Amino acid sequence: MIHVTNLTKSYKSGDSVLTVLKDLSFSVPKGQFLAITGRSGSGKSTLLYQLGLLDHPNAGQITIDGFDVGALDKDARTAFRLNKLGYVFQDYALIPELSALENIMIPLLMLGHSQESAKKESESALRKVSLVDRMDNLPSQLSGGQQQRVSIARAIAHNPQIIFADEPTANLDTETSKAVLDAFLELHKQGQTIVMVTHEPEYALMTDRIIVLSDGKIIEDELQKK
Ligand SMILES: Nc1ncnc2c1ncn2[C@@H]1O[C@H](COP(=O)(O)OP(=O)(O)OP(=O)(O)O)[C@@H](O)[C@H]1O
Ligand SMILES: [Mg+2]
Repeated sequence: MIHVTNLTKSYKSGDSVLTVLKDLSFSVPKGQFLAITGRSGSGKSTLLYQLGLLDHPNAGQITIDGFDVGALDKDARTAFRLNKLGYVFQDYALIPELSALENIMIPLLMLGHSQESAKKESESALRKVSLVDRMDNLPSQLSGGQQQRVSIARAIAHNPQIIFADEPTANLDTETSKAVLDAFLELHKQGQTIVMVTHEPEYALMTDRIIVLSDGKIIEDELQKK
């Protein structure tokens, strides 16, 4: 599903150049639930941004679903991102004035779905994260974990090929984090490819595979026995 070859990313700061990702190569097969871990500053978010087409690497190639995404022009890249990828961040980024259902419908309407189809797909996404009974609630009427599950429903509503999650449980207590992880595990069971950055060894251990980054390099890449 994802092939990364010789990926390098640097940032200029003043006169010096900080190389954050150093010549990374790896692949993620379809349906894999991959955890990326490592110390703060090791390059996890930077890697996720490159894979999720939210940033451009300095060198190397990324193919997703057979497309050399670095070769896409700006519009094709945006369309690829909107249609094929889904994102979950640590701050749920829900619109406070809109209900859970409406928060999920908005991106679908922007993708050209009819009102009716957007509603149907959004309800089905909320069902997958066990929140369909809260669809009329505003974000402020939901717990942190429930809000995060709404954001997961929003990420999956357009049936993306891959979900990228950057520390989705960072702002949540242990119990709510577990519910969020369960939502990912359920999606994984249905075949969803997921790439999740996490600090929590306990959650990383629930996935298929753990890549550990240190100083922009992969120092461990372990498949989990299930
Ligand atoms: N836009 C940027 N400009 C300059 N330096 C950056 C930029 N983004 C990230 N960095 C630097 O790249 C390094 C890796 O950052 P990154 O955010 O990928 O780390 P991380 O592993 O996600 O850390 P954390 O666990 O704290 O989220 C850090 O040293 C950071 O300061
Ligand atoms: Mg980070």
